[in-house]
Amino acid sequence: MTKQEDQFKKVLSHAKEYGYVFQSSEIYDGLSAVYDYAQNGVELKKNIRDYWWKAMVQMHENIVGIDASILMHPTTWKASGHVDAFNDPLIDNKASKKRYRADVLIEDYCAKIEGKINKEVDKAAKRFGDTFNKEEFLATNGRVVGYQEKINTILARMGASLEKEDLVDVKALIEELEIADPLTGSRNWTDVKQFNLMFGTKLGASAETAMDLYLRPETAQGIFVNFLNVQKTGRMKIPFGIAQTGKAFRNEIVARQFIFRMREFEQMEMQFFVKPGTQKKWYDQWKETRLKWHLSLGMGAENYRFHDHDKLAHYADAAADIEFKFPFGFKELEGIHSRTDFDLKAHEEFSGKKLQYFDHEENKSYTPYVVETSIGLDRMFLAVFSNSLQEEALENGTTRTVLKLPAILAPYKAAIFPLVKKDGLPEVARKIMDDLKWYFNVFYDEKDAVGKRYRRQDAAGTPFCITVDHETLEDNSVTIRHRDTMEQKRVKITELKELIQSEVAVKNWLQRM
Ligand code: GAP
Repeated sequence: MTKQEDQFKKVLSHAKEYGYVFQSSEIYDGLSAVYDYAQNGVELKKNIRDYWWKAMVQMHENIVGIDASILMHPTTWKASGHVDAFNDPLIDNKASKKRYRADVLIEDYCAKIEGKINKEVDKAAKRFGDTFNKEEFLATNGRVVGYQEKINTILARMGASLEKEDLVDVKALIEELEIADPLTGSRNWTDVKQFNLMFGTKLGASAETAMDLYLRPETAQGIFVNFLNVQKTGRMKIPFGIAQTGKAFRNEIVARQFIFRMREFEQMEMQFFVKPGTQKKWYDQWKETRLKWHLSLGMGAENYRFHDHDKLAHYADAAADIEFKFPFGFKELEGIHSRTDFDLKAHEEFSGKKLQYFDHEENKSYTPYVVETSIGLDRMFLAVFSNSLQEEALENGTTRTVLKLPAILAPYKAAIFPLVKKDGLPEVARKIMDDLKWYFNVFYDEKDAVGKRYRRQDAAGTPFCITVDHETLEDNSVTIRHRDTMEQKRVKITELKELIQSEVAVKNWLQRM
């Protein structure tokens, strides 16, 4: 098992053991790529959602929120292009009867070559020590350059074939590269076919009159169809945005990597409506703003990178991903898309209703252009959770497992312990808890030795532990211990609220943007 695989395995088991994520319907052996958020997970997820909402809606007077329904009129998905074009290329292995995404098989093949590059880099770094220059090595080492050229050629050919819908060539590429079924090694493949990712359902009681519907595959369309309602009732002036968080559903063929790719997931999307011709400026601005939001959480600038798309979706004139370094490598976390006027124009055409904006300054109507920011809440959860989970070697030779969640996102901000379960200490601890719970989510624990309780809270991600001891009874002071530094200091009970507040105030975090 590689170091990366080992770290990912730890993430999965920690998420279960500490009440963050459970497999859905586990007692029935689960449902593939569907997960439940447990008692701590639901708090972390809510805090991420709130942090996004505050940054996007509360801090922008020209952005408002909505909560559109999951079920929408089926014509929505005709207009948006999802009925005809929301497909993945799939391929079956005739021997194993397993189904794969053809593009993922090819990308995995390239990832293996990238693994070889990384090995060469590690070897050279060891050989050259402090004098090693990674950029120079990547650009000049013959073997590495060869590997990179091979990756580029394969991905360029795959991209071009998918764009032309040349699925015969995608299969030919798989055969030329001698890609085998990862499970069985068989190279007996079917042709590549397109597979629509939307989940269908029915509305209505009788089979004859029931209407075919889809579970929404993105939240964005709920915003587009409400564009004029919001603009008129909110008297919004362009440029303005509409934000929304909510569930989306995709019948993913390759559902793996835990909550990275799910069949039921949650999106946090914002459509920003702008004057035609200004979309490039806003696209650049939103790319920068969204990256700053991520960086404000302090999870390491080196863990993010932009990936500008060469191959654009039918509705876009520019698109980029913010990629994050997950335990399995850099992968898409958020998309920023300049969607032109495609969606509003399409809904206008299919509904027969005008969806235009009257610009008083210009004294004319036009269809606004849209710049969208779209992030998966579950993916953000995985980014935060996996980045925070650390094993730390301590001075006394032991190790501790600590979940260094950004304090603003932690499920519980503080845990309160009486040192012992007697002498009136639990009563004082309960009183502190009762005062603090008006402001923060706090946790009470009196079981086991205090050192063990500290470790439990370290692993659960709680930024502060507050211990009430016999001295407290004399001078109203308690010990407050910081999760990350393990530093302990003595403070007055009356100082606790301010102290915790300074670490978890949304202003202090968002001001880093
Ligand atoms: N409205 C644009 C849109 O939906 P997308 O790139 O398909 O664009 C946006 O999705 C984000 O939603 C992705 O960057 C990712 O974070 C998240 N996402 C997409 N599919 C997902 C899945 N199957 N499971 C979890 N998150 C997903």
